[in-house]
Amino acid sequence: MRGYLNVACEVLRLAPPIQGASRDVLTDFMYEGFYIPKGWKIYWSTHSTHKNPEYFSEPYKFDPSRFEGRGPAPYTFVPFGGGPRMCPGKEYARLEILVFMHNLVKRFKWEKLIPNEKIVVNPMPIPEKGLPIQLFPY
Ligand code: HEM
Repeated sequence: MRGYLNVACEVLRLAPPIQGASRDVLTDFMYEGFYIPKGWKIYWSTHSTHKNPEYFSEPYKFDPSRFEGRGPAPYTFVPFGGGPRMCPGKEYARLEILVFMHNLVKRFKWEKLIPNEKIVVNPMPIPEKGLPIQLFPY
């Protein structure tokens, strides 16, 4: 099961469904030398955090082994956000993804019908034509 989980995590890192979210600034604060005043809106970005080479070497390479052992440092892998507003559906989503992957991999081979299907982002990244595939049961 760990192997599936590492693959699922690496997909969520490379192509996070949610690109980030906004927050209201409730009090003035300094961050990395910048003054952020109360009343501003700020945006945290899943995408740019996941592609930061300080946290993930060769960030555009698909490499599920990044999640072996202790895995990424806290708050560097944030497909479900972090802190008190973190996604409450994350365990359900995790279970659903793993059950789907398990059944697909164990029971079928498959071929993509559109080999280089474009990915569009609106606002989530999805295959432009819905990823049609042909399944071949084992
Ligand atoms: C792969 C699937 C999913 C991803 C990547 C995802 C990601 C996220 C992210 C990034 C946030 C924003 C967290 C923040 O603002 O800090 C969020 C919020 C939320 N998600 Fe998900 N989510 C997923 C599935 C689900 C599912 C299955 C449910 C419900 C069954 C769900 C319910 C919610 C709710 C209600 C919020 C708002 C929480 C709040 O503002 O307090 N999500 N999700």
